[in-house]
Amino acid sequence: MAFATRQFARAASSAAATAAAKKLVIKHVTVIGGGLMGAGIAQVAAASGHTVVLVDQSEEILKKSTKGIEESLKRVTKKKFADKPEAGAEFIEKTLKNITTSTDAGAVVHSTDLVIEAIVENLEVKNELFKRLDKFAPEYVWTIFASNTSSLQITQMANSTTRQDRFGGLHFFNPVPMMKLVEVIKTPMTSQKTFESLMDFSKAVGKSPVSCKDTPGFIVNRLLVPYMMEAVRLFERGDASKEDIDVAMKLGAGYPMGPFELLDYVGLDTSKYIIDGWHSLEPNNPLFAPSPLLNKLVQEKKLGKKTGEGFYKYK
Ligand code: NAI
Repeated sequence: MAFATRQFARAASSAAATAAAKKLVIKHVTVIGGGLMGAGIAQVAAASGHTVVLVDQSEEILKKSTKGIEESLKRVTKKKFADKPEAGAEFIEKTLKNITTSTDAGAVVHSTDLVIEAIVENLEVKNELFKRLDKFAPEYVWTIFASNTSSLQITQMANSTTRQDRFGGLHFFNPVPMMKLVEVIKTPMTSQKTFESLMDFSKAVGKSPVSCKDTPGFIVNRLLVPYMMEAVRLFERGDASKEDIDVAMKLGAGYPMGPFELLDYVGLDTSKYIIDGWHSLEPNNPLFAPSPLLNKLVQEKKLGKKTGEGFYKYK
């Protein structure tokens, strides 16, 4: 019995070793785009011991991103190390040391395990970037490419490269240091090794990953965006006021924000962009139908909190 147990344990540990050998342990990360999302991703990756190169179009933007990361780290540290300010200062210093910056992704991509793209939400621009990076990370290099897109198809981006097996989606949520979820997107061409490496990386940066196929909106936005659009349609028909819809969903469904508050927070332009993209993919899907009211507000530049007015007015 003891022999059988030992045999089993040996077999299990050798199977685990083989599985581990099949995965890429991600240590060096390149994040392209130092905006809202990219800076957050760089922060959590560096804070969990990865070396990070943050890439953007100019030194000026990168300076702003780094300053934003430092301020965000101070906020996180204030809570986490409330009783140990020295340990907090050490943590900030160590995290910032893990981050370097560059304005040329091509120059750093050959020495990285994972490239996370978080640039503007435009398929042509993203494809152009990946095509270029693909040339700098030759076929035999095991660098994984991932996009943080919210609404575009990962498969279309993977197809702009020669490394479809080493391409996936890594969808973080805003604000990245606070939000625990990452959606890991597997296209039909993403290899199991790539998928598992992305899952492990998400856990290593302290997040809870879920996996989803490459379908519009993945899990969260696929449910959330049609829900918000349905709220707008309810209001457009005059069935209920926006204030009552918000109160109803907060008090009746336990949501922290009502759909109109959420639309204003996300940005009406962003929501319109997402729904228009899905509508062009599936024009007969009523859940993806555009809304005349949303279109009108966007045309009037009432984009939500960021412009001071959307469905509500802000001071
Ligand atoms: P952002 O506008 O704050 O930042 C984009 C950054 O990319 C800018 O700093 C810009 O200078 C840089 N950039 C643009 N083209 C570049 C290029 N070719 N090379 C290097 N840098 C370039 O945008 P944000 O909000 O951070 O979004 C980035 C991506 O993350 C988008 O794909 C978006 O859909 C996705 N996303 C956004 C979320 C959000 O709540 N804002 C949530 C989850 C995903």
